[in-house]
Amino acid sequence: MRIAGIVTAVLLLAAVADAAVTWTATPFNPAAVPLAVRTPYLSAWLPQGSGTALNDAWPTFWTGSILGWAGYINVDNTVYTFLGDPVVSGTSPAKAVQKSLTFTATQSTFVMTAGPVDLTVNFLSPVEPTDLVLQSLPLSYLALSVQSNDGSSHNVQVYTDISAEWVTGDNSLTANWTTTTGDVLTHQVQLASQTQFGEVSDHIQQGSAYYSTLNTNSATYQTGQDIVVRAQFINNGELANTQDTNFRAVSNNWPVFGFAHDLGSVGSTATSPVLFSVGHVRDPAIQYIISGGALQSRSVYFWSNYSSVASAISFFLGDYGNALSRAQTFDSKLNSDSSAISTDYAAITALSVRQAFGATEITISKNSDGSWNTDDALMFMKEISSDGNVNTVDVIFPAWPVFLYTNPVLGKYLLLPLFEYQATGQYPNKWAVHDMGASYPNATGHNDGNDEPMPLEESGNMLIMTLSYTQKANDQSLISTYYSLLDQWTQYLIAEALIPANQISTDDFAGALANQTNLAIKGIVGIKAMSEVASLLGQTSVASNYSSIAASYVPQWQQYATASTGNHLTLSYGDNASWGLSYNLYADKLLGTNVFPSSVYTMQDAWYPTVAQSYGVPLDTRHTYTKSDWSIWTAAIATSTTTRDLFISSVYKYAADGESNQPLGDWYETTDGSVEGFRARPVVGGHLALVSSRDT
Ligand SMILES: *[C@@H]1O[C@H](CO)[C@@H](O)[C@H](O)[C@H]1NC(C)=O
Ligand SMILES: *[C@@H]1O[C@H](CO)[C@@H](O)[C@H](O)[C@H]1NC(C)=O
Ligand SMILES: *[C@@H]1O[C@H](CO)[C@@H](O)[C@H](O)[C@H]1NC(C)=O
Ligand SMILES: *[C@@H]1O[C@H](CO)[C@@H](O)[C@H](O)[C@H]1NC(C)=O
Ligand SMILES: *[C@@H]1O[C@H](CO)[C@@H](O)[C@H](O)[C@H]1NC(C)=O
Ligand SMILES: *[C@@H]1O[C@H](CO)[C@@H](O)[C@H](O)[C@H]1NC(C)=O
Repeated sequence: MRIAGIVTAVLLLAAVADAAVTWTATPFNPAAVPLAVRTPYLSAWLPQGSGTALNDAWPTFWTGSILGWAGYINVDNTVYTFLGDPVVSGTSPAKAVQKSLTFTATQSTFVMTAGPVDLTVNFLSPVEPTDLVLQSLPLSYLALSVQSNDGSSHNVQVYTDISAEWVTGDNSLTANWTTTTGDVLTHQVQLASQTQFGEVSDHIQQGSAYYSTLNTNSATYQTGQDIVVRAQFINNGELANTQDTNFRAVSNNWPVFGFAHDLGSVGSTATSPVLFSVGHVRDPAIQYIISGGALQSRSVYFWSNYSSVASAISFFLGDYGNALSRAQTFDSKLNSDSSAISTDYAAITALSVRQAFGATEITISKNSDGSWNTDDALMFMKEISSDGNVNTVDVIFPAWPVFLYTNPVLGKYLLLPLFEYQATGQYPNKWAVHDMGASYPNATGHNDGNDEPMPLEESGNMLIMTLSYTQKANDQSLISTYYSLLDQWTQYLIAEALIPANQISTDDFAGALANQTNLAIKGIVGIKAMSEVASLLGQTSVASNYSSIAASYVPQWQQYATASTGNHLTLSYGDNASWGLSYNLYADKLLGTNVFPSSVYTMQDAWYPTVAQSYGVPLDTRHTYTKSDWSIWTAAIATSTTTRDLFISSVYKYAADGESNQPLGDWYETTDGSVEGFRARPVVGGHLALVSSRDT
């Protein structure tokens, strides 16, 4: 009996989780845990995979390259590692045992048991959608709190450091650094030789990393070789307040930048948090093409309120209590809105928010007198991992729901560069441009017209997002200023949308195809969107003309696009056996344009479950892979909760399957849940499609 019981228990355990995972995970163990994720260049994750504790691996940049970030806790003269994977020869710290991992939209919290105390390690990357200064601060919090777990008091010191890997994609390059003291202790690190707007392996080669903590009387600091600084803490429980000025390559005796705090005697009440901030700041941040091919240097928006990085960091550290409470309010609202759909859905949205915002930066320009022009806010987004394009229209488009949900004005700041550039007349094509520049942070346009050609895709996307913004923000500034561009793109759609030429859609990895049913949907909704735009501006005859053109296309499209069996839409006209996710119908519902009849939705709703694999419905009949963003968009237009939940639960199952250790990839295999080539992309903002709506 006993033996049988044990065998059963072991089998059960093996069936539900990797045996290595001994902690509770709420809501689940994601492929990678966001640690400090705020901009394309401040993006630190724990590659968690099927179950890696906070002290079982180094944090990594979104690309997978290591970002040294180490943490120790000394409890009654026994030292435990709690963060990263440091090795210091001649010392043998114990390892804290991870007890739990919890993530919300803005926070990742680990509880680590270090012998007789529990250490709570909270990583907060604020999402501040309604405050451009706060949202643009490229800083993230690490807060440590300790309490006894055995009823006795213990003597505790904590330590953390970062390496110079935070400032480059090439560790053979020379870094230099300084430590400043005062109310705040800050280590500032940078490359000795900088390249403005330059990248190596997606890391920016310009600007500085900042690691800071409050200079309380229990605080000590030290810079120097990794094993020297860490051994100093391990052996003494404090640092030497010394600086290493032998500037050298990042990987040459690995310089690290450490802080320690003495918490004294800790009992069973949790200590107030010991706070650190980590950040990466560069200035200027973006070069942006204006009229006549001139390039404007733009700065991150926070400079409008702070004259130095030091003052911004001081504010940021001092604001922690407020920031945490704003974060909790944001997290619980998203959780409650998403939980109204399902618990699986709430888990997906929580994992998606930092990743989406972490691809963006808000910038400003200067007036001719040198003052900041805060009326000129522009938001930039890096496509991330599929390539480094700037403000890719068909990446903003899938991400759109997260901006609609949090603050639609951010959507306007993302679209404005695209409008402003095309209004200068430098872009030669008559359709909407694909992106603002091939390589972030260079928003230098495509005056040769050789951007990735997605004419139908991007023209439709621009019209749809522009009307969506106008409706949600109740602001006609975009449509009145850029009416003629919008109309120009509409002419293209009127000519090309019903019978789409051989071309790629946003799903370019699947290849080009003529007569794509889903592209035609986008084009037709785009024409109808322009009819609404014209109507809002009092252009009634234009409005009724475009409205009747869109309406006249629908029955023709139905004829072309419905399979001969009459029970599903095709992938492309006439290919009766083909099908795909008709996710562009989401735009018709979002805008309330309702050009497509409800019979199309109910037909698709009944069809999808018949072609589902174990991890969801493939993107289309060409392959068995799918996209998580488009799956959730399709869930948002499902007419039955069964089909809706099929999509949501499939994405959840994939996200929680432990097969990847990269920041969430939106492109994956439906047969086995393995990830395809993308990761960390902002398109996961589209996972908020079921909580975004036209009406506030
Ligand atoms: C470090 O390098 C930067 C960039 O070249 C330079 O401006 C700065 O003066 C150097 N700092 C030190 C402490 O050498
Ligand atoms: C951006 O343009 C600058 C030249 O202005 C160049 O040095 C830099 O390498 C470019 N950055 C990227 C990521 O291509
Ligand atoms: C601007 O900075 C001051 C001083 O740090 C701060 O009190 C204020 O809240 C900041 N304003 C914004 C909009 O962040
Ligand atoms: C696209 O569909 C139209 C309408 O069915 C058809 O006339 C045309 O031949 C198709 N084009 C291609 C390339 O299949
Ligand atoms: C409707 O719009 C189309 C496309 O711009 C145009 O060719 C046509 O003349 C317009 N019709 C009327 C009645 O304005
Ligand atoms: C699709 O089915 C229709 C109706 O049976 C038929 O006319 C058409 O030729 C079929 N298309 C192809 C490519 O087989």
